[in-house]
Amino acid sequence: MENQKTVFIIGKKVILRPPDINTDVELFYRWINDPEVRHFVSAVFPSGIKREREWIENANKDDKNVILVIEIKDSKIPIGTMGLHRIDWISRTAFTGALIGEKEFWGKGFGTDAKMNLLNYAFSTLNLRKICSSALSYNGRSIGHNLHCGYKVEGVRKNQHFRKGRYWDEVMLAVFKKDWDPLWREYIK
Ligand SMILES: CC(C)(COP(=O)(O)OP(=O)(O)OC[C@H]1O[C@@H](n2cnc3c(N)ncnc32)[C@H](O)[C@@H]1OP(=O)(O)O)[C@@H](O)C(=O)NCCC(=O)NCCS
Repeated sequence: MENQKTVFIIGKKVILRPPDINTDVELFYRWINDPEVRHFVSAVFPSGIKREREWIENANKDDKNVILVIEIKDSKIPIGTMGLHRIDWISRTAFTGALIGEKEFWGKGFGTDAKMNLLNYAFSTLNLRKICSSALSYNGRSIGHNLHCGYKVEGVRKNQHFRKGRYWDEVMLAVFKKDWDPLWREYIK
């Protein structure tokens, strides 16, 4: 039993599973405080173990957020998290957030596989219609993996975020189910 791992979504390269309070707090704590990771996400203040524990404890408690851990399918190594946030059941929209904290796994297609499968869950299980995301303009990998998944740029918030001594644009992206469906059919062939 001990070697059996929990699985929620099975992709080609990764699986997505709910966070585990016993094993994931230390990982989240390390990932979110890493300066190279933080450079790309909204968090700017140090995060403590207590806060990460609370984040995991509260994950998936309401119907507005889905928070999952990304694990490499073959090796079972947890490499990051991905989720749906601010789910709006009236408009049938949500926002995606993504963080691969194990930096050696950046740019190897794990984010794209996790996102395609999370979108499948959002569209085919939760019956959502439009999924949004945003990224700092210098975050090519984030914009790139979203474009792979059918997101289109909807707009740019000029000089929105202060990082590394200057202001940067925020790129707003979104994907509609109808535009994603053909991509998914191709993806799962
Ligand atoms: C963003 C993130 C989830 C993407 O996952 P990933 O596994 O690294 O991304 P993928 O390898 O699936 O896809 C990235 C794509 O962007 C492309 N890319 C990289 N740099 C780019 C750039 N400067 N401009 C355009 N595209 C770029 C890559 O070439 C790749 O496309 P390819 O497969 O055709 O080569 C991950 O890199 C990450 O968590 N980074 C740190 C935290 C972060 O940025 N979170 C998102 C905050 S909005």
